[in-house]
Amino acid sequence: MVDNSKNIIPHSHAVKLKDRIAKNGYNPCLIWFTGLSGSGKSTLASELETHFFNLGYNTYILDGDNIRSGLNNDLDFSPESRKENIRRIAEVSKLFIDAGVLVLTAFISPFEKDRQFAKELVGEKKFFQVFVNCPLEICEQRDVKGLYKKARVGEIKNFTGIDSPFEPPTNPDLVVDTSRDTLEICLNQLISELEPRIKV
Ligand code: ADX
Repeated sequence: MVDNSKNIIPHSHAVKLKDRIAKNGYNPCLIWFTGLSGSGKSTLASELETHFFNLGYNTYILDGDNIRSGLNNDLDFSPESRKENIRRIAEVSKLFIDAGVLVLTAFISPFEKDRQFAKELVGEKKFFQVFVNCPLEICEQRDVKGLYKKARVGEIKNFTGIDSPFEPPTNPDLVVDTSRDTLEICLNQLISELEPRIKV
């Protein structure tokens, strides 16, 4: 890492976050979905985004496979790369929040310390962590992308849940169980928890 702290002097621009909030009429925040591959993070994020988008909010989803196809296409699935993946996502999310956008992220984000980093970076009050809790057996049965099958036969290394760990969050703001509850139930849980936080 380069130490730029002495020669970089951030500029304070005239339009502030409070001005954007006053203009937009809602509090932007980061809704952070964490869970195994196939647990339903992207599906839930997409449905939730649609709900808020239809209410007139500015929204955006940052999603693992999408971000790894562009900004983060230099990263693999080692613990160090996953850490860097989350660091960049957290920094990008912070910018989006500052722009007044309601950000939803869908990353496995398997390590507690990396999720904690994201929370501290954007600030506790703007961070809402959702644990998409779905047992490995169910995710593996779903195997929407056929990746668990490949991981089981060793074609993919460091696959979360198979030969790479997932640390369940210790203090999520909400836990949804996509193996037990319907999409509609999970979505309603999310909406009722989030609406009071987002309203000005
Ligand atoms: S994270 O662990 O760094 O947060 P991220 O959410 O960005 O992961 O990417 C996960 C997606 O990459 C999975 O949904 C899956 O499609 C794909 N993938 C490819 N290889 C792996 C792997 N070794 N472990 C987990 N996911 C993988």
